[in-house]
Amino acid sequence: MPGMDKSASQRFLLTTFGCQMNLADGQRIRGILQRLGYDETENEADADLILFNTCCVREHAEERLFSRVQSLKRLKAGRPELIIGVTGCLAQHHKKRLFEELPLTDFIFGPNDIEELPAILAALIAEPGRRRAGSFADVGHFAGEEADGIVLDRPFSAFVNIIRGCTNFCTYCIVPSVRGPEVSRPIHELIGLVTSLAARGVTEVTLLGQNVNAYGRDIGLADGFPRLLEELESVSGLRRIRFLTSHPRDFSAETIGRIARLSKVCESFHLPVQAGADRVLSLMNRGYTREYYLELLATVRELIPGVSITTDLICGFPSETDSEFEETLDLVRRARFDTAYMYYYSPRSGTKALDIAGLLPEEIRKERLARLIELQNSISQQISAELPGKKFEILVESVSTHGEGHVVGKTRTGRPIDLAGPASLVGNYVTVLVERARLWTLSGRLLQHDVEFEP
Ligand code: SAM
Ligand code: SF4
Ligand code: F3S
Repeated sequence: MPGMDKSASQRFLLTTFGCQMNLADGQRIRGILQRLGYDETENEADADLILFNTCCVREHAEERLFSRVQSLKRLKAGRPELIIGVTGCLAQHHKKRLFEELPLTDFIFGPNDIEELPAILAALIAEPGRRRAGSFADVGHFAGEEADGIVLDRPFSAFVNIIRGCTNFCTYCIVPSVRGPEVSRPIHELIGLVTSLAARGVTEVTLLGQNVNAYGRDIGLADGFPRLLEELESVSGLRRIRFLTSHPRDFSAETIGRIARLSKVCESFHLPVQAGADRVLSLMNRGYTREYYLELLATVRELIPGVSITTDLICGFPSETDSEFEETLDLVRRARFDTAYMYYYSPRSGTKALDIAGLLPEEIRKERLARLIELQNSISQQISAELPGKKFEILVESVSTHGEGHVVGKTRTGRPIDLAGPASLVGNYVTVLVERARLWTLSGRLLQHDVEFEP
């Protein structure tokens, strides 16, 4: 790389916060850094470059990042040549003041400027001590998202961005202002990318977008999302196709019917509902009612037997009354989600919800969240209790943290199952009998496997 003078022994530590978009960007950042000759380390003390890939969706996410960076003060004081960088959504959001807020940082760049990273590092090395910033592009792109330009956490599973940005402007959400408008990647490029990934040994892809159902609209494809899935179905070597996130407003029965016919698409739908009262949904600008949402779930369950449905929920939105919160609880009882990501409302600068009167005290927001979690946990427990005795095909993902000689894999419905087995099973598809269930995760016994091993 011109202008770069570094020895092969340089190491980077990348820490990613936030959603799958950031994990996918992490795949690209790793690819770039490895191309530049850096090796990865998990240890701060060994790193020459520490990079944080950040999130700002809730205040808590920001606080965590600020304290993590500040905690490097002593390390940096002892090794002034250590380079510290911040990218991701928080960098984009705080771009004008981040150097002031985080004096330890040497460079910052936004999620839409990842391809600028080599030039930024070259400039830092050429002129040590002078801070550098990316261009903070407002609109995303797909440059560099090629099979040979990314480094996967697991060589058999890849995240694939199909649409960047978001144009939904839910009133509580900062994402559209930090990630820019929706930009879809053309179908032929995606087929090419997934085909090369499959040729490299990837058998599972997770297609990503803040609203995958909007895929193709900005490039003139009315039915882009089901068309893309139909075309990916024929990529040889690929066994599982997942996608995240679906906006309930944009999921038609026709699309669900088309997806139901595809054998590689997993029976796992993440359909964030956010709230159960129509007035709150309207204040959130979600574009659907509770009745519409519940009908959508019924359609998904009818067309895709055995489907797992998960969701996101926000409680304590400004002006949400007790009875409106009860409506959220009621919706959760009716919907019977397998599991849910639950949050209490966090005010974000630059979002419309800040102008809605009636911000609830944090105490009330937290109390509501505790009740919501309790209810959802009891439902998850009931659903899980029905699983022991059933058989599932899993893709073994990793060695388990539960003990030596154990591995963990996921069902097509996205449930993790822990089982006794050797590390050589990782990357393979095996059949497992579920023996025990917890809230969401399961334990089981290996029934059938497609590799030879000594038990
Ligand atoms: N695009 C997806 C969707 O529409 O559901 C997910 C977007 S966001 C990255 C993930 C989740 O964070 C949202 O579904 C929402 O539940 C939550 N979230 C976003 N903004 C929030 C806020 N200001 N306070 C609390 N939760 C928030
Ligand atoms: Fe945020 Fe709504 Fe876009 Fe999801 S769809 S990223 S919640 S604005
Ligand atoms: Fe966070 Fe950005 Fe994702 S704000 S949730 S990392 S799109």
